[in-house]
Amino acid sequence: MGGRHEPERPMPLAIPPELIARLAGAQRIAVLTGAGISAESGIPTFRDALTGLWARYDPLQLATPEGFARDPALVWDWYAERRRRIAQVQPNLGHLALAQMEQRYPHFTLVTQNVDGLHQRAGSRTVIELHGNIGRVKCSRELTVVAAYAEGESPPRCPCGAWLRPDVVWFGELLPEQAMEQAEAAARNCEVFFTIGTSAEVYPAAELPMTARAAGAAVVEINPDKTPLTRHAHFVLHGPAGVVLPQLLARMPAAA
Ligand code: OAD
Repeated sequence: MGGRHEPERPMPLAIPPELIARLAGAQRIAVLTGAGISAESGIPTFRDALTGLWARYDPLQLATPEGFARDPALVWDWYAERRRRIAQVQPNLGHLALAQMEQRYPHFTLVTQNVDGLHQRAGSRTVIELHGNIGRVKCSRELTVVAAYAEGESPPRCPCGAWLRPDVVWFGELLPEQAMEQAEAAARNCEVFFTIGTSAEVYPAAELPMTARAAGAAVVEINPDKTPLTRHAHFVLHGPAGVVLPQLLARMPAAA
């Protein structure tokens, strides 16, 4: 006869004591997240071969200024569908753990490549969005964010007459300058730099962990798979963010 059905408990993670010691003594933490931290919320990543977003769509057709100029309605509708999907999901334990971690340190900077806004919905207060936010819309000519617009036409138009577009960074576009400057400063000044759920293949974001390493920070990678960064990280915690981060949080100093 089997015993009581116990909910699946994740295996306790072997967290290196040196990492616990570094975290206990640190004041300044920086974090870079990628699509992997939203995977457990049900949002496809980009490069996962089978399920990834790019496996089903041609990114050069959808996430570039040329793609938008060629077929603005297709691009607008694709982002509208992604926006609808994101509105239906919830932040996961990884997002929530990072929001709580922020409370534990006097200087905690969260930099994300994600455009889904889940860090903010999880309660993170300082979020630097390197690639914009799918929930925001801007004029494709004036580049100013538009708070409200009339649905109907795809894409809707700005009062100036130009198409509206998602306020996200497309391939070939520059990252928001201030966001990048803040992210680089955080990487240069932190004592521990976490890189979580990113394939570390897209620059300049992928340079941040190396900037932190060069400045003397301990670099911690959290990812179920290896990435080009893995061999440069001081600590590698192989596992999903939603499992690893809550266990790491439990070993961190109590709220400041
Ligand atoms: P990718 O799809 O390139 O990489 C996702 C990473 O998350 C992979 O390394 C996975 O192994 C890992 N992963 C999957 N599930 C995970 C989990 N549960 N917990 C932790 N990690 C997990 O996504 P990004 O690295 O974010 O840019 O891609 C970077 C940029 O490339 C995106 O911001 C986007 C794309 O082009 C723009 O749109 C400008």
